[in-house]
Amino acid sequence: MSILITGGTGFIGSHTVVELIEAGETPIIVDNLSNSKEIVLDRIQTITGIRPKFYKADLCDMTALDTVFAENPDIESVIHFAGLKAVGESVSLPLQYYYNNLVSTLNLCECMKKYGVKNLVFSSSATVYGDPAEIPIKETTPLGQTTNPYGETKKMIERILVDVHKPNPDWSISLLRYFNPVGAHESGLMGEDPKGIPNNLFPFVTQVATGRRPYLSIFGDDYDTHDGTGVRDYIHVVDLARAHLCALKRARKVTGVEVYNIGTGHGYSVLDIVKAFEEATGKKVPYKVVARRPGDVATCYADAAKAKEVLGWEAEFDMVAMCRDADRWQTMNPNGYDA
Ligand code: NAD
Ligand code: WQD
Repeated sequence: MSILITGGTGFIGSHTVVELIEAGETPIIVDNLSNSKEIVLDRIQTITGIRPKFYKADLCDMTALDTVFAENPDIESVIHFAGLKAVGESVSLPLQYYYNNLVSTLNLCECMKKYGVKNLVFSSSATVYGDPAEIPIKETTPLGQTTNPYGETKKMIERILVDVHKPNPDWSISLLRYFNPVGAHESGLMGEDPKGIPNNLFPFVTQVATGRRPYLSIFGDDYDTHDGTGVRDYIHVVDLARAHLCALKRARKVTGVEVYNIGTGHGYSVLDIVKAFEEATGKKVPYKVVARRPGDVATCYADAAKAKEVLGWEAEFDMVAMCRDADRWQTMNPNGYDA
């Protein structure tokens, strides 16, 4: 049996494909390469010895997606990573974000119905909690106001999937709300490859540490946190990848819609990250404090107890591993996947 991985050449998808192959599963990737590169398949092959089947196709193209299902009648589950994810870009390109993220998911559900595929794991985000009503954040914490179209697509898709489940009660849908995925594969062969100037903290820090950028701008040091800078729950991408295997195992046994926070349960401030990175790698991370970034919240970290109790999953990698692996990837691939 095969598992369809949408967005499987992307950052989190590629690491999940490696973990699936190493667990003896057979992933099939579909990706339109809008934010990833085909060379990722070479890297997956180098790490695992297996080159997964790959379709370059857009999930918004129903004919192309239908072909993937028609040609692979052994698909029994789907992990749905495909989507546009840049918060700032979603504010400038709302139509593109709503169209891409919603239509791709609707098409996917149509195909799953048509071909009798009933297990779906969806990449949601802690962004659905908005400015969280409580810390640490539980799955029962009320959803908040999102501040951008990207976040809204995650909330809308979660709702769509809950509604899709009602007339399809034999489906199993896992909504995984990721906190802040960082790090890279320990081989240094796969990692995060943002286009242009990174939006997220970790890729920015690694680019500063390796001399590609002069300094880190810290967005505000007057938040109500232990040192005034924003606090987040950073999770190693390989831990996150493994959470998908646990969700998949459970999806094969139970039906329903289940929500899980996927984080470590620990909060690190921006200054904590700078210090941890310098200690773990021996490299300096010069920084300047600048104005707050609109839409940022002070603190966001998970109560990850449900994933441990029900899925039997918990994060294993600590902050030292996150920093070292991110730095190894950046050092071995100073221009990301570009030669
Ligand atoms: P990514 O951009 O590296 O991977 C997403 C992949 O989806 C890319 O390879 C892209 O080419 C592909 N894609 C986009 N639209 C597509 C379409 N219409 N058809 C086919 N392929 C398409 O992002 P990532 O960091 O790996 O994130 C994976 C998922 O996890 C996304 O849904 C993202 O919103 C979600 N998520 C990411 C984070 C994070 O910080 N990275 C946090 C929470 C949730
Ligand atoms: C972390 C902290 C910044 C960059 C985003 C999305 C969220 C999810 C994960 C997809 C914050 C500070 C950052 C920089 C800084 N993605 N920072 N200088 O904002 O928690 O979450 O990625 O679902 O939806 O919003 O992550 O890495 O951008 O920021 O000071 O150059 O680092 O202010 O406190 P964030 P991030």
